[in-house]
Amino acid sequence: MCGIVGYVGKKDCTKVLLDSLKKLEYRGYDSAGVAVFENGEIKISKSKGRLAVLEQKLQKEGWINGTCGIGHTRWATHGEPSDINSHPHGSARVTIVHNGIIENYQKIKAFLIKKGYTFESETDTETVAKLLDYYYEGDPMAAIQKVLGEIEGSYALGMMFKDFPNRVYAVRKDSPLIVGVGEDEAFIASDVPAIIKYTRNYYLIDQDEIVVLDDGKAGIYDIHGMPVDKELMTADWDMEAAEKGGYPHFMLKEINDQPTAIKTTITPRINEGMPDLSECGMTLEKLSGYQNIFVVACGTAMHAGLVGKYVIEQLARVPVTVDVASEFRYRNPILSDKDLVIVVSQSGETADTLEALRLSKNVGADTLAIVNVKGSSIAREADMVLYTHAGPEISVASTKAYIVQIAVFYLIAFELAFAKGAISEEECRRLTGVLQSVPDLINVVLQQAEQCKYIASKLINAGNLLYIGRGLDYALSMEGSLKLKEISYIHSESYAAGELKHGTISLVTEGMPVIAVATQRELFDKTVSNVKEVKARGASVIFVTHSYKTIESDVAEYKIGLPTIDDILMPLPAVVPLQLIAYYTAVLKGNDVDKPRNLAKSVTVE
Ligand code: AGP
Repeated sequence: MCGIVGYVGKKDCTKVLLDSLKKLEYRGYDSAGVAVFENGEIKISKSKGRLAVLEQKLQKEGWINGTCGIGHTRWATHGEPSDINSHPHGSARVTIVHNGIIENYQKIKAFLIKKGYTFESETDTETVAKLLDYYYEGDPMAAIQKVLGEIEGSYALGMMFKDFPNRVYAVRKDSPLIVGVGEDEAFIASDVPAIIKYTRNYYLIDQDEIVVLDDGKAGIYDIHGMPVDKELMTADWDMEAAEKGGYPHFMLKEINDQPTAIKTTITPRINEGMPDLSECGMTLEKLSGYQNIFVVACGTAMHAGLVGKYVIEQLARVPVTVDVASEFRYRNPILSDKDLVIVVSQSGETADTLEALRLSKNVGADTLAIVNVKGSSIAREADMVLYTHAGPEISVASTKAYIVQIAVFYLIAFELAFAKGAISEEECRRLTGVLQSVPDLINVVLQQAEQCKYIASKLINAGNLLYIGRGLDYALSMEGSLKLKEISYIHSESYAAGELKHGTISLVTEGMPVIAVATQRELFDKTVSNVKEVKARGASVIFVTHSYKTIESDVAEYKIGLPTIDDILMPLPAVVPLQLIAYYTAVLKGNDVDKPRNLAKSVTVE
């Protein structure tokens, strides 16, 4: 979704804004723009397309020279991607950039039209700029306060007033905003990677706090204009973590980061061989008191929840319901104070997941967030937080964030099963030990990258694909299918292998690729039977299973062999070839792997 940045300092502001916006490219965008004070005037440059297009435009039409400005990458919501709809927007006196959606913009626009305002763009953002202009009588803070009383929806706004050439104002509600502070310079940004090149020190801005960057310093105020004391945060990772590190794409780097990410996530939560989640206030007593568990998330994070469901139910025998957040929040779920709601989110800013969390808290359920981004809205609002330590995930297609979410679910399942008396201490220790061995196994699976690339070369011309599996393998198939769809643009579906013959098998035609995942040995023969059914109808089968399993040529054309551990832990190594197949298919098709069309990394609108 949109990214906003702002700078006040001594450096070439246009360059700083472009550099910072580049670090927010992962959020997904279709146009970009900057506004910079030059000799007391606000100069704007904006254009549809990538940041490179904006940079060329600036070089051709004239660089804007100044030390104070705001910038934006736009992911279109109101109005198509175009030069006119790109941010910044404004009036003669006010210029703004915005991330979020103003829900009552039509009412405000109608009011402003009656007052004589005219509009250039189709955006909701332009109404905020014009409303600020309407209320502005020489005091920016007063105008901002009045506007905040009228607009509804979500926003992170960066604002400049023509009368104050060295200032940037900002405010947020339900869209992320941080403030970076360096020596004689200050920044606003949607996310930490945007500022990390310049400073590691930043503040997390809370709902409706107003930020003023002035003369290289940052002031933070509450909605009434009273100064607020904030804790200064320090990013615990450096630029390298947000760079490609020699890999051609972030996605490939992030797939290869997975062994380290798992280690970093689980190690601090294992105490003398036993899982220990007490850091977030989750005691054995508390854990064993829950009657039901709900897992609520979107996309890949929801798929991690599906693995969590199988594992918790199998080991701890506690019922788990997994919901897509956008459905959960409107289905009036039956929750009580005896239930635990686990929300899962890489970004910690996904609008539907955040609202599902708020709803759960309102009805009195305990909430636990599994989140990657420190200090994000979901992390701050949940009763308990378990951070995944994957480091920054830049590629839109989530890989390392997914695998560490699953790793955390294992720790929860082991501890819960032990707390409930469903497994012995000895078994809990053993399973925890096997989990600790997984990073090394993933390193072995990563060595099959070339084979995954070869298989990808057989998929690039496919129009449709099926992923099938049973039990945990079905949950994995869903993730494999989503990964392929989002970056290769090949249509694929995932199906419970036993369900195929109830309808979907009619889609199977000569040469249609079917990826069968069969790591659950109890279900292996049953999956093989289902595979034979599609094979008999012409499918070309890729079989993902244990290395030691022999696969006859009447079952599959290609096999990917996995190292063997307990079946319940097999999703961790088994997802890796699915990620690599999706990655190489997208690469071979020449797609923009890290920034697939139409997608945003952080989905801050519902
Ligand atoms: C994953 O590859 C997707 N880009 C997407 O499904 C993502 O997992 C989903 O939007 C949830 O995001 P979150 O984890 O930041 O909440």
